Amino acid sequence: MCGIVGVLGSHEVAPILVEALGRLEYRGYDSAGIATVHEGQLDRRRAVGKLVNLSDKLVREPLRGFAGIGHTRWATHGAPTEANAHPHAGPRVAVVHNGIIENFRELRAELAVEGIETRTDTDTETVALLCQLFLDRQMTPRAATEATIARLTGAYALCFLFEDEPDLLIAARKGSPLAVGHGEGEMFVGSDAIALGNLTDRITYLEEGDRAEVTRAGAVIFDAQGRQVTRPEKRIAQAAAQVDKAGHKHFMSKEIAEQPRVLAEALRHYLTPEGGITLPEPGIDFTAIDRLTLVACGTAFYACNVAKYWFEQVAKLPVEIDVASEFRYREPPIPARSAALFVSQSGETADTLAALRYARGQADSILSVVNVTESSIARDSDIALPILAGAEIGVASTKAFTCQLLVLGMLALEAARQRGTLDAAELAAHVRGLRELPALIEQGLSIEAECQRVARGLSEARDILFLGRGRMFPLALEGALKLKEISYIHAEAYASGELKHGPIALVDEHVPVIVMAPHDELFDKTVSNMQEVMARGGKVLLITDAKGAQVAAEGAWEVITLPEIDPLWAPILYALPAQLLAYHTAVAKGTDVDQPRNLAKSVTVE
Ligand code: AGP
Repeated sequence: MCGIVGVLGSHEVAPILVEALGRLEYRGYDSAGIATVHEGQLDRRRAVGKLVNLSDKLVREPLRGFAGIGHTRWATHGAPTEANAHPHAGPRVAVVHNGIIENFRELRAELAVEGIETRTDTDTETVALLCQLFLDRQMTPRAATEATIARLTGAYALCFLFEDEPDLLIAARKGSPLAVGHGEGEMFVGSDAIALGNLTDRITYLEEGDRAEVTRAGAVIFDAQGRQVTRPEKRIAQAAAQVDKAGHKHFMSKEIAEQPRVLAEALRHYLTPEGGITLPEPGIDFTAIDRLTLVACGTAFYACNVAKYWFEQVAKLPVEIDVASEFRYREPPIPARSAALFVSQSGETADTLAALRYARGQADSILSVVNVTESSIARDSDIALPILAGAEIGVASTKAFTCQLLVLGMLALEAARQRGTLDAAELAAHVRGLRELPALIEQGLSIEAECQRVARGLSEARDILFLGRGRMFPLALEGALKLKEISYIHAEAYASGELKHGPIALVDEHVPVIVMAPHDELFDKTVSNMQEVMARGGKVLLITDAKGAQVAAEGAWEVITLPEIDPLWAPILYALPAQLLAYHTAVAKGTDVDQPRNLAKSVTVE
């Protein structure tokens, strides 16, 4: 996804735009650019790569003006080149865009008929040139923008800037988030509250199909039917809008370290003193459903995989899971007496949002577990459960993952309580296990030095395997994803019992095999699989607890020991080594930990 920002200021806006784009770089960083209007002149500066390249260019070629727009890009159409960098412009209008215009080729052909040639590979350029065409037909900026937007199909968050109107920005959203910020005699537009965190805490979130005409006096908002509407102005807690590394080298390191605190926060929010769970109205009746469908992408999907074990083992509730990008195309029948639950940190992942809309009208209720409570997925749910992880900037999801697991675990316990599948003593024991989590995670952070040492060995590997059984198999999947997405080392995960059905052919002395195995009911079986690996010269890194180390450490390349924990909740604790090994391997390799190549924090395109 991309990040967009607009400022109608009372000072030079170029540095303000660049600072705001710095807050948005987690959304994409293939290129960046700004446009401003100064003394009746619209002008742009754009640069390939990280924002620092644009900053350098602005030092050499400054841009003046008190009105401007900015963009940081995750490339969808067209390579990350300067020509493809936003803002895109006609002679008197510039626009920045997050999303995909699906009918841009059709629009490009229409422009060609009008003798207007496109010069880039992007979909967004057609938006700028179409708006310019309507301006050339003597339409006002407001009318020209409205006519342009009416021609677009696809997903967009747009912000337009006009050469002839230095006190006007026009913002529009459909399928991608967009907010208006209120200042004193100044107004702002941004992809989210984080972008505007240094400018204002007064935020109005545009709704689906909204178009906002923004001047320094305020914003006039029209809904998808063209009716003037009022949207609530909210005060955003500065903590939500403030993002800094708090002394850590990377956001990912900070966010790993924040886990004890944010998990404790989530427990305080949901768990009642009696061990029940406080759910938002109208609540969830787990006795009224015979099946639960869980859908997500990436790390959030692996959280769903863990949750499947929990719901089925403790609540005896059948669970179907699928990755969002496959779910709706599989056309799964969703029976009556079923609920569908969507997990998403950003709440804007296009595939997950589309899957939610597929389930709408079929499932009895649509639930979501999200970190961004103002997001599209939250707004489209009957009940949105916040994970309270706070802003997660590192592209590799860490604290959001463990907070997703915690909320899903509490939901599974609530389902067990309602469905009477656990007796009071069992329920109380698992609730106690949850309450111990923040302290155990805090204690678990003490393995960081070991992970840093072991990571130096992992950083030299070409291939790495992760193994896990039962509830730990999804953790093996998550460990492989964490490692590959930030260190660029090829890593794969297998259910440890599956290794002998083919993948064990990959094993030799050059392939580290990371085994995630608390001393639980499946431990002995996993140890057998581990010994099959060691018998073939494989280098085993065993991640276990004291009991497991005592029984199975012999012959392992390395052993990392975690505190004892209620086996049901072990996946939450074992996320730590997955995160720390990936982090320190990436640091050892010198990759860009917070903004790994080719990725973005939330994928708002299919
Ligand atoms: C996780 O480390 C990745 N960055 C990615 O897989 C992410 O989990 C996925 O894109 C889903 O994002 P969401 O939770 O915002 O929907």
